[in-house]
Amino acid sequence: MSERPDPAVRVVLDPDRASSSLVADVRRGLGSAPRTLPPKWLYDDHGSVLFDQITRLPEYYPTEAERSLLSEHAADIASITGAPTVVELGSGTSDKTRTLLDAFDAGGSLRRFVPVDVSEATLREAAVMLSQRYPELSVEPLAGDFTLHLGHLPTGDRKLVAFLGGTIGNFYVEERAAFLGALADSLEPGDWLLLGTDVVKEADRLVAAYHDSAGVTEQFILNSLTVLNRELGADFDLEAFSYVPFWDPAMERIDMRLRAESPQLVTLPGADLVVELAAGEEIRVEISTKFRPEKLRRELAEGGFAVEHLWTDGDFALTLARREG
Ligand code: SAH
Ligand code: TRP
Repeated sequence: MSERPDPAVRVVLDPDRASSSLVADVRRGLGSAPRTLPPKWLYDDHGSVLFDQITRLPEYYPTEAERSLLSEHAADIASITGAPTVVELGSGTSDKTRTLLDAFDAGGSLRRFVPVDVSEATLREAAVMLSQRYPELSVEPLAGDFTLHLGHLPTGDRKLVAFLGGTIGNFYVEERAAFLGALADSLEPGDWLLLGTDVVKEADRLVAAYHDSAGVTEQFILNSLTVLNRELGADFDLEAFSYVPFWDPAMERIDMRLRAESPQLVTLPGADLVVELAAGEEIRVEISTKFRPEKLRRELAEGGFAVEHLWTDGDFALTLARREG
């Protein structure tokens, strides 16, 4: 075991701002049609544990598909980019990222790794593990929100920003464009983006991945109500809701909803809000957009990124793009 001190986590999440943005998000989302809840609040400590279980479900193919693509192409990615700094957005456990870091380690160019996540406990644990595993690497975790805090990314050397797990698919269309624009603004021309995206495929496999037989995804989505009960003193009755995910072929996305099976009167004192749900009324908690390669190339180009490589096994895709100058 090495004697290294644990990496210091730089926290740019302000606890007061976090709670006021929860109130704003909830007021806006529950007031719209269909009603929605903001997904970043799914990842409290319990939500992060449930998510980790999702990645191991037999029906949830994206994690293993992305892991294989990473092992196949990590050496190329390291030699093509030669980046001394790797940033990972929404890093979670950084489990798959080790494949990439191993290749950079072998290539000898990497000096610094900056994992960024809103889930501070998961981030801290991952950072300790990585700093033990890579004794020469400076591990500099950032507890922040990738929709707000890209301005805090390190500057100076050539960077590769990894955004894996299909997380970009959890944004709505306008949010996705705003995110890519903000990311391009925070990078120098010539910096790199490594993006993991799920691919459009048969509805059955897609739906099964988000409606597993063990019910873990359902618990993960229902956990959004537990977060509101705890953070806003709300009185959602979890028993009254059922999980109804479906494939939306027009939008090419999985739409994950909770349906009130009977009329519900929900009070959310922390948001100064009372919500009346009719029997059968649904709340959308999250979407997961799937991408055809053409759409990816177009959206990346609109955001200021040129695609240099797109690797896919047909199920999942890894794209290496460069910030244009
Ligand atoms: N990259 C991992 C985890 C994906 S799950 C993988 O591929 O398996 C999405 C991760 O993004 C979670 O760890 C969650 O805590 C984090 N996250 C969600 N919204 C975020 C936000 N707005 N800012 C920063 N991190 C966020
Ligand atoms: N981004 C991944 C996906 O869309 C992981 C994920 C985010 C997820 N939210 C989820 C998986 C909700 C299942 C349920 O697949």
